[in-house]
Amino acid sequence: MSIQTVGIIGAGTMGNGIAQACAVSGVKVVMVDISQAAVDKGLATVSGSLDRLIKKDKLTAEQKKAALALIQGSTNYDDLKGAQLVIEAATENYELKLKILKQVDAILQPEVIVASNTSSISITQLAAATSRADRFIGMHFFNPVPMMALVEIIRGYLTSDATHDAVKALAEKLGKSPITVKNAPGFVVNRILVPMINEAFFVLSEGIATPEDIDAGMKLGCNQPIGPLALADMIGLDVCLAVMEVYLKEFGDSKYRPCPLLREMVAAGQLGRKTGRGVYTY
Ligand SMILES: NC(=O)c1ccc[n+]([C@@H]2O[C@H](COP(=O)([O-])OP(=O)(O)OC[C@H]3O[C@@H](n4cnc5c(N)ncnc54)[C@H](O)[C@@H]3O)[C@@H](O)[C@H]2O)c1
Repeated sequence: MSIQTVGIIGAGTMGNGIAQACAVSGVKVVMVDISQAAVDKGLATVSGSLDRLIKKDKLTAEQKKAALALIQGSTNYDDLKGAQLVIEAATENYELKLKILKQVDAILQPEVIVASNTSSISITQLAAATSRADRFIGMHFFNPVPMMALVEIIRGYLTSDATHDAVKALAEKLGKSPITVKNAPGFVVNRILVPMINEAFFVLSEGIATPEDIDAGMKLGCNQPIGPLALADMIGLDVCLAVMEVYLKEFGDSKYRPCPLLREMVAAGQLGRKTGRGVYTY
């Protein structure tokens, strides 16, 4: 199945980024959020992001105009009806996602594929809330979507080959490099990344090296663009802790034990850049 129009639920950080990636590649978009203000904010973000590409000579003013013309903003789920694929990119909340998925499942034609951009919720579990588990899949984009090449395509237990192939072809059309992943907590990237960050906190708490030296070690020795502790400050220490707690619970394996120092810093409200102080002070 060829996907010409993509419906996007949520016009926030990820939703508007996915909308931009689609529109720049000539794919029509209907982007739905709960309020006109949220839709307008999403559209303005896309416009500003395209302006930055123009400044860098990566896009022309005509291309920007053409891309924006392909994005329809809406507050009405009925406008998603013309899409061949609907990507749910609403707030990360299980109950909310269930509600949204049941709602769109009821109005979309049976052949329409539904995807979720969730970072942490089971694709198999979300699929079960719909009447189309074989046409349900995870599309995990990375932030900022227009810049990041990766999309993790997550197959739920019942996802069909046809659904996988159609979504993979779309990701490639958007200029992305998709990888195929079986449904499991953290998928591939966060499953490896967040325990590595947690280990950096153990190394710090054991006094093995200073934060600066830990980060320099991973940058200079492993070619990482940013050290794990600086990255934790960017992601948010609370988010890192929550992810480790999910792994510990889901896998029942003590290797996912959150570092006590990470817990202490979260309890103290030192959450990283967003609070002005994490491992580093901003
Ligand atoms: N931010 C990231 O780095 C990142 C990366 C990968 C995946 N994700 C996932 O992407 C999803 C969206 O995250 P985000 O960072 O864009 O969040 P965000 O808070 O920036 O945006 C969420 C948007 O969803 C809207 N929304 C809430 N309820 C809705 C409803 N019923 N119908 C339509 N829209 C609704 C909100 O108004 C908001 O505009 C989450 O599942 C998150 O886990 C986020």
